[in-house]
Amino acid sequence: MTPSNLHLPQHLPKPRGFGRTNRTDSWWLQPIVVFIGLSIFIVYSTWAAFQGVNYFYDGGGSSYLSPFYSPVIFGSEGHPWFGARPDMWPTWLPFSPALLILWAPGGFRFTCYYYRGAYYKAFWADPSNCSVGEPRSCYRGENSLPLILQNIHRYFMYIAVIFIGILAYDAWLAMWFTDSDGVEHFGIGVGTIILTINAFLLGGYTFGCHALRHIVGGKFKEISKHKAHKKAYECVTCLNKRHMLFAWTSLIWVGFTDLYIRMCCIGVWTDWRIF
Ligand code: FES
Repeated sequence: MTPSNLHLPQHLPKPRGFGRTNRTDSWWLQPIVVFIGLSIFIVYSTWAAFQGVNYFYDGGGSSYLSPFYSPVIFGSEGHPWFGARPDMWPTWLPFSPALLILWAPGGFRFTCYYYRGAYYKAFWADPSNCSVGEPRSCYRGENSLPLILQNIHRYFMYIAVIFIGILAYDAWLAMWFTDSDGVEHFGIGVGTIILTINAFLLGGYTFGCHALRHIVGGKFKEISKHKAHKKAYECVTCLNKRHMLFAWTSLIWVGFTDLYIRMCCIGVWTDWRIF
């Protein structure tokens, strides 16, 4: 293949019927698990994002903010930067603070190299798995619209790094409790632990990004000549090796963190203070 015809549809060397393969292992299991896992997360996170309430728990002296709503730019709970609701928000559209921010972490995940490989297989069988026949006879890759837009990933990554700082700050705030005497004390509740793990897992996922790995060191021909970049490259590589693990654990945990805070807000669960 020459560079000049990269943008043209490429015909597969050995077309197979959809789902046909010589593989004898359970190749279908992975795409099914991915399909179910991502579907549950998408349904739950969409539902939670449109609620617009019960995202900030302020009881027992502590306060926890759901990561789906952080930072609160406009909102009626938590500590919004600018007020309850933007004046220009259309009256026909339900308002939720999450709708102002979720495009950033959502876009970051959607364009992630790992997730692309996973949901291309799980949601549109492209192919269902390696060496398995797919329901199409040519391959366009990501060289044309709409999938060429996936290249925006590195820009989402810059924003995602800022979000990690904000979520780490939320975890820090969750370590401070106001007791009945009105004095603020350092403390740990179950919610504190949940928010801290959330920041850790999302940090592990974000700082193991393939695009970040390239930016900090992969772009150099001889990285050994750039000591600071080499160290950063090794750190990102260490996380990058576990990128799939962080992708799933952070996805599950961020959803659970929202659920935990929501349940505490409506009084179904009690946030136990450890000390
Ligand atoms: S490649 Fe997965 S977050 Fe960047």
